[in-house]
Amino acid sequence: MASNKRPSDPRIEKSFCKRLLTVLFSGRTFYLLSHPLEAFSICADRWWESRHKDCPLLVPTVIEFLGHTIQPDWTGFEWGSGGSTVWFAERTKHVTSVEDNSDWHRYVNSRLAEKCLNNVDLRLTRIDPALSDECTSSDQRARSVYVRQISDFRDEFFDYVLVDGHFREECIRAAIGKLKVGGLLILDDSLWLPTLDGWGVPEDWEIVCHAGSLTKQTTVWQRR
Ligand SMILES: C[S@@+](CC[C@H](N)C(=O)[O-])C[C@H]1O[C@@H](n2cnc3c(N)ncnc32)[C@H](O)[C@@H]1O
Repeated sequence: MASNKRPSDPRIEKSFCKRLLTVLFSGRTFYLLSHPLEAFSICADRWWESRHKDCPLLVPTVIEFLGHTIQPDWTGFEWGSGGSTVWFAERTKHVTSVEDNSDWHRYVNSRLAEKCLNNVDLRLTRIDPALSDECTSSDQRARSVYVRQISDFRDEFFDYVLVDGHFREECIRAAIGKLKVGGLLILDDSLWLPTLDGWGVPEDWEIVCHAGSLTKQTTVWQRR
């Protein structure tokens, strides 16, 4: 008999407590014990995520901003699928989403099917493991099939692009020409680089939303 169980989803389906225990028993325990503010911030993030399954895993203030900014006739692109794919599909005309993990791809597809959302092109694009090697150059990563998915589209095609997967600097570079004037570039975990300037977004693009905590920040630029 066919099983009705969804593909397992270690991040979203794990309970808040299990996920907290995973953090506590990881190699970071000592570090977190000596940084209570950071530990509290991680707990707060995990708690929020466990309660918002079909929501982007972005900073809540940014989700709120996007909720009142994006429009039903908008078309978008994202690297890194998940709750964001469902959320954007429910609110905009079309989403192209690039995913490299086949289990996760199946899981996100099942969420979309459950909600009868058929306005998503969810692309499974494997990443050559050799590209994870720190010795690979940024140019090599930029030429990967994963990053180049957006080159299928003409310039100034998208109203929004979410960068939330692998090779974020390369994805940003590839996305810049593909956004319409006025379009939104959304970058999660923007604190991974010491300064926002480091991401290579053109200087004249305005930061229209930037929020987060000690451990997680999301930034939204608007193309000028
Ligand atoms: C930060 S997540 C993308 C989240 C998505 N944009 C959102 O806001 O909901 C980046 C990548 O992590 C991987 N990922 C996230 N959760 C996963 C899970 N539970 N199991 C396997 N892969 C996961 C997926 O490959 C995904 O593309």
